[in-house]
Amino acid sequence: MSNHVFPPNFLWGAATAAHQIEGSPLADGAGPNIWTRFAHTPGNVHNNDTGDVACDHYRRWKDDVRLMRDLGLQAYRFSVAWARILPEGTGRVNQAGLDFYSRLVDELLANDIEPLVTLFHWDLPSALDDRGGWLNRDIAGWFADYGRVLFGALDGRVKKWVTLNEPWVVSDGGYLHGVLAPGHRNKYEAPIASHNLMRAHGAAVQAYREVGKHEIGLVVNIEPKYPHSDSAGDAAAVKRAHAYMNEQYLDPALLGTYPQELKEIFGDAWPEWPADDMALIRQKLDFIGINYYTRSVTRDQDSYPLNAGAVKQPLGTYTETGWEVFPQGMVDLLVWAKDRYGNIPTYITENGAAFFDAPVAEGGRVRDPLRTDYLQKHLRAIREAIALGCDIRGYMVWSLLDNLEWSHGYSKRFGIVHVNYGTQERTPKDSARWYTKVIASNGASVDEPLP
Ligand code: BGC
Repeated sequence: MSNHVFPPNFLWGAATAAHQIEGSPLADGAGPNIWTRFAHTPGNVHNNDTGDVACDHYRRWKDDVRLMRDLGLQAYRFSVAWARILPEGTGRVNQAGLDFYSRLVDELLANDIEPLVTLFHWDLPSALDDRGGWLNRDIAGWFADYGRVLFGALDGRVKKWVTLNEPWVVSDGGYLHGVLAPGHRNKYEAPIASHNLMRAHGAAVQAYREVGKHEIGLVVNIEPKYPHSDSAGDAAAVKRAHAYMNEQYLDPALLGTYPQELKEIFGDAWPEWPADDMALIRQKLDFIGINYYTRSVTRDQDSYPLNAGAVKQPLGTYTETGWEVFPQGMVDLLVWAKDRYGNIPTYITENGAAFFDAPVAEGGRVRDPLRTDYLQKHLRAIREAIALGCDIRGYMVWSLLDNLEWSHGYSKRFGIVHVNYGTQERTPKDSARWYTKVIASNGASVDEPLP
C-alpha cells in the first residue's frame, strides 16, 4: 500500500478524436479533410482502411454518452472536425456541423460529464491543404478564426479547451517522414509546419482571451530518452532526440525559444524565426496536456535527420504498436516538465495501450489483463509524480473506444471498450470495468492487486 493519494478534485475521463471515431466525414455539409483523402489513396493506410464509418459515433453519439455515464466517467476529451464547422476551412460556417458538437456537449453535461475540447486533432480541411496547409503562414489566422467560431458557440458549456493535439506528430509524421496525412517527406517543410502550428496555437490562445472565460492549453506527446550507453556520442544523441520530441513545442509555447539542437538536426532547413513570431507563440496557458505512452533508449546512429536511433530492450514488454511499457518514464518526464516550465497545471490527456484482445466471450466479456496492468502501473506512476510535487489535475485514458489507429487502420485496438466493426456493438473490456472502480475510489483501488 502506498501513502500517496490522488487529489480530491482529480478529474477521471477518457479521450477520443473526431476522425478516429465519428465516421460520416462528409455528412450534413462537412468538407473533406486530409485524412479522408490520404486514406482513399491506396497504400497509405493498413488494409486501405478509411474513416468513412469508423465507430459510427456521428450517429451513435447519444448511446456513447450513455456508455460513458455507465462507466462512471467524469470527463470526456474529444476533438472537433474543423471541416464540419468550416467546410472550406475558412469563411462560411456550417451550422449543422456546429449543432452536432453542441448537442454532444449538452448531452455530456446532462450526464455530469465534463467536456474537454480539442480544436485540432490532425484532420485538416482539404481546402486548406490545397492552399498549403501548415506550410502557409496564413494558417495562424485561419485557425484563430475557426477557434472564434467554436468559442462563441460553446464557451461556458465547455470550460477546458485545447488548441492542438501533438504538433510533433503532425510535423514528423505528416511533413518529415510522410507516414501520416498529408504524407509529405521533406526536411525543409517540417520546421515550417512546426513553426506555423505553434503560431496557430498562439493565435488561437489570443483569440480565446478576447472572448473566452475559462481555460485553454496545449497538448503534446512527450517521451523520455535514456542513453543506451555512457558514451559521449549516446549522450549527445539523447540531447538531440529529447530536444526534437520533448522541447520543440513546449519551449516556444512556454519559454518563447526553440532548443538550439534543432539547428544541429535540421541544418540549413532550420531558419531564423522573427522575434514577433516567438512573441505570438508564447502565450499564457492555463494548463498543459501530456500524452504519454512509452520511452526510448537512444543511441548515436546514422539516421535521417536526427542521427539517433532507438534500441529495443531485450527484457522489455512491448505493446502491439511496438512501444515499451515503461511507467517510470512518466514520472521522470513529469518531474522534468515541472522543473523546466514551472509547475503548470497538467492533465494527462492520453495514456493507454494497444494489445491483442481475445474475441468477445459468451456473456459479453473481453479479458484484457495486459491493458489493465498497463493502466494500473501508469496511474501509480502519476500518483508518484503528484507526491513529488507535480500539479497533475486529471487523467484521460486513450481510448474510450477501439478506433481508427491512423495508418494502422483498425488493426490496433486501444479502447477500454471493444468495438465490433461489423455490428458497431460496444462491449466494455475488463479494463473498463476496472477503471470504473478506480474512478469510484478516486484512485485508491490502484493499490489492489489485479484479479
Ligand atoms: C494520438 C492518438 C493516437 C494515439 C495512439 C496519440 O499520438 O493523439 O490519436 O491514436 O496516440 O497512437
